[in-house]
Amino acid sequence: MSSNSPTNLAERYAFLQKELARLEHAYYALDNPLLPDSEYDRLYRELLDIEAVHSEWITPESLSQRVGGVALKQFDSVTHIVPMLSLNNAFDDVELIAFDRRCREGLHLDHVDYAGELKFDGLAISLRYENGLLVRAATRGDGTSGEDVTANVKTIRAIPLRLTGMSIPKVLEVRGEVFMNLNDFRKMNVQAALIGEKEFANPRNAAAGSLRQLDSKVTAKRPLSFFAYGLGALEPQSWLPATHEELLNAYIKLGIPVCSERRILKSVAEILTFYKDIGAKRDSLPYDIDGVVYKVNSFAEQAKLGFVSRAPRFALAHKFPAQEALTTVLGIDVQVGRTGAITPVARLAPVVVGGVTVTNATLHNEDEVKRKDVWIGDTVSVRRAGDVIPEVVSVVKERRQPDAKQFVMPLRCPVCDSHIERLADEAIARCSGGLFCGAQRKQALIHFAHRRALDIEGLGEKIVDQLVDHNLVRTPADLYRLGFTALANLERMGEKSADNLIAAINHSRNTTLARFIFALGIRHVGEATAKDLANHYRNMHALMDAKFDDLLLVNDVGPVVASSIMSFMGETHNREVIEQLLASGMQLSVEEKIISDAVAGKTFVLTGTFPTLTRDEAKDLLEKVGAKVSGTVSKKTDYVVAGVDAGSKLKKAEELGVQVIDETAMLKLLK
Ligand code: IVH
Repeated sequence: MSSNSPTNLAERYAFLQKELARLEHAYYALDNPLLPDSEYDRLYRELLDIEAVHSEWITPESLSQRVGGVALKQFDSVTHIVPMLSLNNAFDDVELIAFDRRCREGLHLDHVDYAGELKFDGLAISLRYENGLLVRAATRGDGTSGEDVTANVKTIRAIPLRLTGMSIPKVLEVRGEVFMNLNDFRKMNVQAALIGEKEFANPRNAAAGSLRQLDSKVTAKRPLSFFAYGLGALEPQSWLPATHEELLNAYIKLGIPVCSERRILKSVAEILTFYKDIGAKRDSLPYDIDGVVYKVNSFAEQAKLGFVSRAPRFALAHKFPAQEALTTVLGIDVQVGRTGAITPVARLAPVVVGGVTVTNATLHNEDEVKRKDVWIGDTVSVRRAGDVIPEVVSVVKERRQPDAKQFVMPLRCPVCDSHIERLADEAIARCSGGLFCGAQRKQALIHFAHRRALDIEGLGEKIVDQLVDHNLVRTPADLYRLGFTALANLERMGEKSADNLIAAINHSRNTTLARFIFALGIRHVGEATAKDLANHYRNMHALMDAKFDDLLLVNDVGPVVASSIMSFMGETHNREVIEQLLASGMQLSVEEKIISDAVAGKTFVLTGTFPTLTRDEAKDLLEKVGAKVSGTVSKKTDYVVAGVDAGSKLKKAEELGVQVIDETAMLKLLK
């Protein structure tokens, strides 16, 4: 039988369906990838290839159905035969103890076993499986009827389209929570911001917004997850295990994701320990939770306890302090970071968030303030999660007062009064007083002394901290004025080390111009650029007075680097520090160039492939002897060196009448 014969292909197709479902389940539900992504992709493509030829084989459970389908006009309504209820909440131990007492008294038992689990902060969903096949997914709605979101739910890879295992009931409604992992949420918001789309305030809104998309193709792109925690309709009832714990274990066997953070709790003491343990873990979980849930473990006991109005008597949500709260923006200040980054910070009326009093929240940058439209005086929602700095999530626009004021980015650094600059293409505004600014002082000194900069041995972070904290050094120029006594008096600094440090500082005066330029810590000027600048300008004052257009002529210097240098050198504070440094006896050497009279100062353009040299090698050779190498042909070009397959540049040279030579001729010129 040929390998393409229909029966074999059909078998292969069936195999791919199973295998891909197994891989997806391991990856999305168990967090345990079995094969590299590339292998998954290969099998998936094979499945699609077969479906392209045999569309009649495609079943609702084919993984190709996860990409979403045609957009809906509206969601159909779905009635929940078994209503989707809510939970009663406890906010303190007293309410919890009362719950346990009610359960024990109601059951006439001395003690009751509870299943403890997490309270996920997403949205509830009911998944209906008939004979193992996912046939419908519905939101909770008002508990009695919800919306049919089947097409969307089918795109969630953690949710199996077909159940696995030996014991599959005829009808099974799995209840659980759709949510978004924090990492996925953050990535998604970064993406949204990049393309100018609205960001979601928190993972729950993101999950809800994604699930309630009329276009399932959009949902398919949203990284949603799912955990099961309950049961709706079931046929036959005989399938039901005796306890909640066993139900969840049975779910796992069916391929349904269940969170592993759960525990059987046998007393109030154990319940409180569970609450404390999970509370301590909360910040390190990959998703948001807003509490824990306790459920009477035995289904028989649950049935005896029954329901009050819309909530079961047998379950209780024990909430954690909220991670979001409303407060007022009293003002918006800016903070200067170690690298000069200017961050707007909202000063808030004190508010308790997640158990901690918050008075400041970051607004990240100027664009963020605009995008979130935060005004001084606004009522805002503030979020604190884990160790991250509290942030302003959103504004309650309806509460904006007539006297609310818009934020204006200050023009000068609040720490050193240097100009605040924002380079094109950058979200962050920065203080341009890098050498002078108090906020950047330590960072600037550590960089200045770096091995690849002025190489001052012994001037590490600890010493810099002390020098700055004791006000002995404010700028790098002060280093060269340090006296022995001042140094020897520092903590953990003996006379010998003080001697050594003074010697190292003195020694550093003898350096290269390239190192000196690098040591200044100009943004975007790394070691290589510093070398190029040194070779080009050959003395510090020439660089200090360079014009923008002039800077662009330097090897590898584009508009971003050039404007960064311009703003650094344009800051009087920085110039003063450089002058002081130069006056302190710096000896800045420049690597001598072998100047070739024939080509020095001439501009070359290289194009095509050369017989012996790479383009980079040719460029280095030319630059070593004082020639300039440019990327574009103009009237100012002296030579175009053309190799094989030279294209438009050669044509342009011919048009402009620029002299065209080959590699051999170029090498001759260099000799
Ligand atoms: S059980 C009959 N368990 O909380 C009880 N709900 O206020 C039905 N939730 O709408 C809910 N984690 O969205 C249950 N482990 C958990 C839960 C949980 C989160 C949500 C669910 C429900 C709401 C109830």
